[in-house]
Amino acid sequence: MPDQHFTNAEKLPPYIFAQINKLKQIARSNGEDVIDFGMGNPDQATPSVIVEKLIEAVSNPSTHRYSQSAGLPKLREAISNWYSRKYSVDLDVNNEIVTCMGSKEGIAHLSLATLSDNDDVLVQSPTYPIHSYGVVIAGANLRSIPLCENLDSFLVDIESAIQNGIKKPKMIIINFPSNPTTQSAGLDFFKKIVEIGKKYDIWIVHDLAYADIVFDGYKAPSILEVDGAKDIAVEFFTLSKSYNMPGWRVGFCCGNKKLVQALTKIKSYMDYGTFTPIQVAAIKALNDCDQDVIDICSMYKSRRDELCNGLNRIGWDVQKPLATMFVWAKIPDKYLHLGSLEFSKLLIENANVAVSPGAGFGINGDEYVRFSLIENEHRIKQAIRGIKNFFSMEIK
Ligand SMILES: Cc1ncc(COP(=O)(O)O)c(C=O)c1O
Repeated sequence: MPDQHFTNAEKLPPYIFAQINKLKQIARSNGEDVIDFGMGNPDQATPSVIVEKLIEAVSNPSTHRYSQSAGLPKLREAISNWYSRKYSVDLDVNNEIVTCMGSKEGIAHLSLATLSDNDDVLVQSPTYPIHSYGVVIAGANLRSIPLCENLDSFLVDIESAIQNGIKKPKMIIINFPSNPTTQSAGLDFFKKIVEIGKKYDIWIVHDLAYADIVFDGYKAPSILEVDGAKDIAVEFFTLSKSYNMPGWRVGFCCGNKKLVQALTKIKSYMDYGTFTPIQVAAIKALNDCDQDVIDICSMYKSRRDELCNGLNRIGWDVQKPLATMFVWAKIPDKYLHLGSLEFSKLLIENANVAVSPGAGFGINGDEYVRFSLIENEHRIKQAIRGIKNFFSMEIK
C-alpha cells in the first residue's frame, strides 16, 4: 500500500456526529427505542404531486440522458419566478442562477471555484459544517467569527476582523435563519452586511436553507432584497427542507453573476446536473406547492411547541426559535462542565434520546445541544419523559 498523505482528507477533523451515531446503533442493537433528534433530515414524505411529476418524467426515456449541469432552462425560470413572487427580486435566468445537487454541494464547490490558499474567509461559528469546511477543503484560511446573540455585535466583530486581520478577507459566509443556533435576522441586518461587503470589497455568500420554516409571523428575508446586493452577494436555497425533499438533491445559487458563473463553470467540469426527472419535479414544487410548504412549516411549529413546552416543564430552559427545524438548547448548569459530546452520550445512554452535540458545529457550540424536529409529537412526549427521568438520576 502506498505510504502517502491524503492532504485534503486529513485537513478535515473526525466527524463528531459519528460517535453519537455509533452509540445510537449500539443502543438500537440492544433493543432500545432511541428517539432521534440528531440529524436535520426531514422525516415526512415529499408531497405527492411532486412524486407523481417525477414518475411521469422518468417514464419518458428522453429524460434518462445526461442532464444540464447549470439546470434546465425551465427550472431556472421557475427559480426566477419564485424569487420574484416571494421577494420581488429580479434574476437573469441565463447568468444569475445555477442549480445544484443540493445546496451542500453548491456551497462546497463555490468555495473550490473561488478560493485559494492566499485567501481568508470569515464564517460565522457555530454553523452548518460545510460553510467552514468548504473553505478548508478549498485550501483557504478559515477565520471563524463567534455568532453572538446580538447581531449588531456580530456585525461589529465582522468589521473589526476585517480591519484587524493581517489580510483583508475575500469572502464572508453567513446563514440566517441559522443552523444550528436558529438565530433569525431582519432585512436591516442584511442591509448592514451588504454595506460592509461593499465598503471593503468582500464577497458575501448567504445560505437561506430555512427560508420557509418560519413561525409566529416572522418572515426570513433574502439578502438579494437589499438594493445592490447582487454586486457582491449570492444566496443558496434548497428544496430539501421546504418540500421534504432531502434525498432528491436539488437546490440553487442565485445572485452575483461572477460568482454564479464561477460555480457554473466548475460544476460543468464535475457533474452533468441533477437527474432530469428530479429537475422536472423541482419545477412542479416551486411553481405549484406553496400550500404544501405552509403545511410542512406548521408541522414543525407544532413539534417545536411540544418540545420546547415539554423541556421547559421539566426544568430545562429553552427558547422557542422563530425559524428552522431545530431547537438549540443550552446544556443545563448541572451538566455544563461535561461539554456537549459527553452530555449527548449521557442522553442516549440514560434517556434513549439522541441529539447533536453543539461542538460538532464549531467550538463555540460546546455549551449547547441541537434537537432536530424530526420526531412526531407522540415521540417528543416520550423523549421528555426519558429526559425527566435522566435528570432525576445521580450521574457521577
Ligand atoms: C443551513 C443548511 N444549509 C444547507 C443544508 C444542506 O441542504 P441540501 O440538502 O440542499 O444539501 C442544510 C442541511 O441541513 C442546512 O442546514
